[in-house]
Amino acid sequence: MTKKQFLGWGFIAVLLMWGGNTYAQKFDQLAKTPQLGWNSWNTFGCDVNEKMIREMADAMVSSGMKDAGYEYINVDDCWHGERDKQGFIQVDKKHFPSGMKALADYVHSKGLKIGLYSDAGNTTCAGRRGSRGHEYQDAVTYASWGIDYLKYDWCDTQDINPKAAYSTMRDALYTAGRPVLFSICEWGDNKPWEWATDVGHSWRTTGDIYPCWNCEHNHGSWSSWGVLPILDKQVGLRKYAGPGHWNDMDMMEVGNGMSEEEDRSHFSLWAIMASPLIAGNDLRSMSDATKKILTNKDMLAINQDKLGVQAMKWIDDGDLEIFVKPLEKGEYAFLFLNRADQAQDYMLDWSFHYMKDDISKHEVFFDKKKFNWRDIWRGDSGTTTEKLGLNIPAHGVRVLRLTPR
Ligand code: GLA
Repeated sequence: MTKKQFLGWGFIAVLLMWGGNTYAQKFDQLAKTPQLGWNSWNTFGCDVNEKMIREMADAMVSSGMKDAGYEYINVDDCWHGERDKQGFIQVDKKHFPSGMKALADYVHSKGLKIGLYSDAGNTTCAGRRGSRGHEYQDAVTYASWGIDYLKYDWCDTQDINPKAAYSTMRDALYTAGRPVLFSICEWGDNKPWEWATDVGHSWRTTGDIYPCWNCEHNHGSWSSWGVLPILDKQVGLRKYAGPGHWNDMDMMEVGNGMSEEEDRSHFSLWAIMASPLIAGNDLRSMSDATKKILTNKDMLAINQDKLGVQAMKWIDDGDLEIFVKPLEKGEYAFLFLNRADQAQDYMLDWSFHYMKDDISKHEVFFDKKKFNWRDIWRGDSGTTTEKLGLNIPAHGVRVLRLTPR
C-alpha cells in the first residue's frame, strides 16, 4: 500500500468510526426516560387508515397530551401493502392513499413523531408482510419515509434466534442512519431483559394486555391479560430496567372499558414501574376523566424521573401492596395498591419502618429521616412525623410523593 492509499483508507476508517459513533449516540439518546405515545392496536386492531391517524395526531395536541409530554403516534399492524419487484415494502394504498411519507410529514408538522410496526418473521401477527430477509430494505424505506419508532413483533418466527433477529433489525436501523426508537415486542418469551439492553430501547415483558382488572382472556391458543396479572409477571425484572432500556408492560387500556378507579390504578402502576406509557384509546372521543388520568403531570413526572429506577414492591400484605420508586434528589414515590374488591383502611407508622433498595442503593430509616408527602391524585399532604392513615378504594391506589424535609 502506498502512503497515499494508506492515508485514504485511514480517512475512510475515521469517517466510519465517527459516523458509527454519531449514530450510536443518536440512538442512545432516544429513551433516556420511558417513551410516551399512542398506538392504534388496542382500539382499532387492523382497522387503520391515514385519516384516523391524522386525527389522532390532532387530538394528541388538542387534548393537552402533547404538552404533558406524549410524543409518538404509532401505527400498529396492517398498514402494509405488498412488496414491490425489488422487495421493497409498499404501504396499503387503499387505506393510506397519500403514502407514509405524507403521513409522517403531517405528524411531524404537529411537533410529534411517528412509529410503525413490523415483525421479525415472514408475516406479522395479522398476516401482513414481515421483515424477515428484508431488514435492511425495510430500515432504509422507513428512514426515507421519516419514521421515528419501530415496534418489532415476534409472530411466524418458529426457527429464528431472537437475539440475532432483533440485532439484525437494530443494525439495519443504525445503518439506515435515521434515529429510530426500537421497541422489542417478543412477549417476554425468550427473556429479552437478559440480552436486549443494547439491542432495543424497551422490550415487552408479557403477552398482550386486555382491559380488565384481574382476568385472563382466553383466545384459544393464547391468552391476554388484565392489569394485575401483567403487574405480577414483572417480578424479578426491575434490575434490568434503566435509562435507554425499559421493561414494557404493553400499551395502556386507559379509557377502554375499565372503571375510572381501575384506569387510574393501571396508569399509576405502569408509571411507577417505569414502563413506556403508550395510550391505546381513541384520543378523539375520550372522556374528561380519561384525559385527566393520561395527562396527570405529577404521575408522568414520576414515570419520567431521570434516575430511571423501576419501582420495587416494598411491602406485600396480601391484597394490600406498597410499591416504592426512588427518584432524583432523594425523593420517593410510594404507591399503595388495593387489589381487593372492597375498600381498605391502611395505617402506616413511618417511624417503625426501614427501606433498602439494592438496585439504586437507597436506604431510609424513617425514624431518623423525615419527609413531607403529597398525594398525587387527591392533592392532600402531610409529613412522615405523623402516622399515615389511608382509605384505599376497591381496585384503587393512593400515590404519595415524598420530599425530604
Ligand atoms: C401482537 C402484539 C400486539 C399487536 C398485534 C398486532 O399480538 O403483541 O401488541 O401488535 O400483534 O397484530
